[in-house]
Amino acid sequence: MAAAPPAGYSRLQIRLHWAVVALVVLQYALHDGVASAFDRGMEAGALTLSAPAVGHFVAGSAIFLLAAWRLLLRQERGAPAPPAEDPPWQRGLARSTHAAMYALMLGLPVTGGVAWAMASEGASTAHEVMRALLLLAIVLHVAGAIYGQVVQKTGAIDRMRRPVD
Ligand code: HEM
Ligand code: HEM
Repeated sequence: MAAAPPAGYSRLQIRLHWAVVALVVLQYALHDGVASAFDRGMEAGALTLSAPAVGHFVAGSAIFLLAAWRLLLRQERGAPAPPAEDPPWQRGLARSTHAAMYALMLGLPVTGGVAWAMASEGASTAHEVMRALLLLAIVLHVAGAIYGQVVQKTGAIDRMRRPVD
């Protein structure tokens, strides 16, 4: 973390945030192909790649790499302090939600990769639990962003739209 927190997110931090949002939406929207390839393969006793499965692995691996890049940027440059109006409980909740989302963006690709590479039901279950947790965190995160923007009027969403380089 930088000595003094920056006044806002950088252009790169903002681009990475929205690129990852698009990829995560794709992972949830196009889930059928990889799930059926996995189920078919587990039944047949041999997993065979399909185009949707490859797409899922490529997008998921990109999420892993971009999330790791974001964490490095966060380490080097830092993240802006939360809006001054936010009470301590809200800061704590936002911080924990962000931490959980980073952990899940790294953990999902690992469990998914292990599920496929080792034909592991256990890793597949872990992948399933993490998917549910990530969805929950996203709902909370988006609700918090809208609450900040609309109710508290702290310009919460603008923080992820207007770069401060
Ligand atoms: C953040 C990244 C990821 C997200 C949000 C995600 C999400 C999902 C979703 C929504 C499904 C559909 C399950 C269903 O409809 O039953 C799924 C299944 C699957 N994913 Fe991922 N995935 C991610 C990364 C990966 C990666 C990188 C791999 C492998 C390299 C992978 C391997 C699998 C496999 C093998 C399945 C089918 C078996 C199962 O349901 O566990 N995933 N994933
Ligand atoms: C796939 C869905 C999403 C994921 C995984 C995600 C993840 C994250 C993470 C990890 C951070 C913390 C950044 C940091 O400080 O290092 C963050 C910040 C932020 N996100 Fe998201 N996000 C998602 C969707 C959204 C959406 C849809 C919105 C808008 C409604 C949004 C608005 C914001 C804002 C405004 C911040 C800055 C928070 C602040 O410091 O005030 N995010 N997001």
